[in-house]
Formats: sequence, C-alpha cells, structure tokens
Amino acid sequence: MAASHESASRGPASTTSGTHEYETGAQPDVFWKSPEGSVTLLHGDSLSALNSMPEESVDVIFADPPYFLSNGGTTCQNGKRVKVDKGRWDKSLGIEENHAFNRSWLEACQRVLTPNGTIWVSGTSHVIHSVGFAMQQLGFKPLNEIVWEKPNPPPNLSCRYFTHSTETVLWAAKGRKSKHFFDYPRMRAENGGKQMKSVWRMTAPGKSEKTHGRHPTQKPLSLLERIIAASCPEDAHVLDPFNGSGTTGVAAARAGMSYTGIDLSDEYLELTKARLLAEHPEWAAPAKSKRRLRAVK
Ligand SMILES: C[S@@+](CC[C@H](N)C(=O)[O-])C[C@H]1O[C@@H](n2cnc3c(N)ncnc32)[C@H](O)[C@@H]1O
Repeated sequence: MAASHESASRGPASTTSGTHEYETGAQPDVFWKSPEGSVTLLHGDSLSALNSMPEESVDVIFADPPYFLSNGGTTCQNGKRVKVDKGRWDKSLGIEENHAFNRSWLEACQRVLTPNGTIWVSGTSHVIHSVGFAMQQLGFKPLNEIVWEKPNPPPNLSCRYFTHSTETVLWAAKGRKSKHFFDYPRMRAENGGKQMKSVWRMTAPGKSEKTHGRHPTQKPLSLLERIIAASCPEDAHVLDPFNGSGTTGVAAARAGMSYTGIDLSDEYLELTKARLLAEHPEWAAPAKSKRRLRAVK
C-alpha cells in the first residue's frame, strides 16, 4: 500500500473502553497480538490506524517518520557510493505535501495522546523542521530537542560538506497545559549523578540488533530504551505509528510497557514479531497437539 498523504480526517468516535480495543469496522488489520494482549501490531496506513484508535489512549509516542530522503541522491555504505533508496514510502512528494502529511499524522497522534502524554519524533534536516513547525501549528508544548550524535558516521564522499553525524529527536507534550512525566532521578543516576544533557552519544545499531532481518533505517535499542525510561509513567501504553523493525516495541516490552506498532509493510511487521518473540519465547503460538485434538473430538 502506498503511503497516504491526505490531510487528516477524523475517524469514527470511540465507543470502546480500555487502551487496546480497536473499533469494529475500522480499517487497520491486526497483524499480530501477543497472547497476553500487551502488544498489538497493526498493518496499514498510520493515519487510518490512528483514527481508529480510542481518543486519549496512549501515554507515549515515538515516531520515526519517512525522512523523504530517497530521491536519487547517493550515500556511502561499507565504503562504497550507493543510491539512497529506502523504499517508496521515503520518496518526497514536494515541500507542501510533505508538510501536509506531517501535520496530518501529528494531529492524529495528538488525538490519541492522554492529556499529559508526550511524543518524540526523530528526523534529519530533511523533515525535522516541518515536524517542528507542524507541532507549533497544532499547539504541542515543546519539551526538549535531543541531538543524537553518532560516533562512527559514514564519511561524506563528496568532501563538500561536514560529515553528517547527528539526528534530532524532538520531545513535546500534547498541549500547553500538559503535566508531562519525566523520570529525572533515573536519568541523573544513569548519568553518574549529574543532570543528563540533551546531546546523546550512541552508536547506530550493530549486527547483534539485526539478527532477525534488516530494516534500512533501524534505530538503536539504546536510544529507545532511554526514551522509554525517561518518559513512561508506570504501565504506560506506548505507540509507534512508523513501527519499522519494531525497535520501539522491543524497548517497550523490555520495560514492561504495553505497545501498539503500525506499519505499511507486512515484511517489517514480521521482523518485529520475530524480534519480540526472541525477547518473549512464551508468546509463540503453542504447537497444536494431535492427541489433544482427537480427545476433544
Ligand atoms: C524510518 S522507518 C522506521 C524505523 C524504525 N524506527 C526502526 O527502528 O526500525 C519508517 C517506517 O514507516 C513505514 N511507513 C511509511 N509510511 C507509512 C504510513 N503512511 N503508514 C504506516 N507506516 C508507514 C515504513 O514502512 C517504514 O518501515
């Protein structure tokens, strides 16, 4: 399915209770649900999936949206010049349409956030200014601008620019009146007893995080683990509208939070499921016993 860049339309009014119920008749298809119900993976366009979710049902959102980078340029991979082509979903539709798209999904995220809920959005200069502007337009409350510094970035082959070595992660609360959660003591403790700064030095995910398959823009678990530790109140419901390989889901499950992930690609949702089952082998569907089936007959 191609990415929908239409402007946001409100979904049907929520009639369900509980944070993990999706309305009957709504568009997204449940790709997989963990047997105890803490994880739901939805296959489909994030805008329709978000619009089918109950209002104020999510505490923390991490979104790693298309960066609109795959437009015929080149980059360096393993020392070689290669074309940037992360997928159809990453192609630019032009400045205005890209911004309309960002505004639409951010508005849909704002609707599902609890009043004190927060959202993190990662991006490079190709997308992050539009995201920041859309957040201002929608009345989000800015909290932090995190700089994720990569110690080993690929070299810049053209030698006409500084080596790109950072990504930005914007952290914002649902609205001006939100009283957001921040685990300050934990962050200070993790930083050796000193206040943690907004520049985070973390390596890109290595082979050990890619044993179940590859995703072209996989985020490191260390980044998501910090985000979740810093901003999730107890028993939080975490959402990622651009699930990818499921890094947010793995980090949320490790922290004991519930999780909903949305992606257009069933291949990436399959990868996510494999990563989650590696964390929780008990979530695998039990093999059906022929003996038991006979007994039931
Ligand atoms: C930048 S990647 C996310 C990578 C992820 N953070 C990870 O660690 O693997 C964006 C993902 O969003 C998905 N995607 C793009 N447009 C979408 C849309 N409109 N609705 C749902 N998923 C979309 C793509 O298939 C891709 O997997």
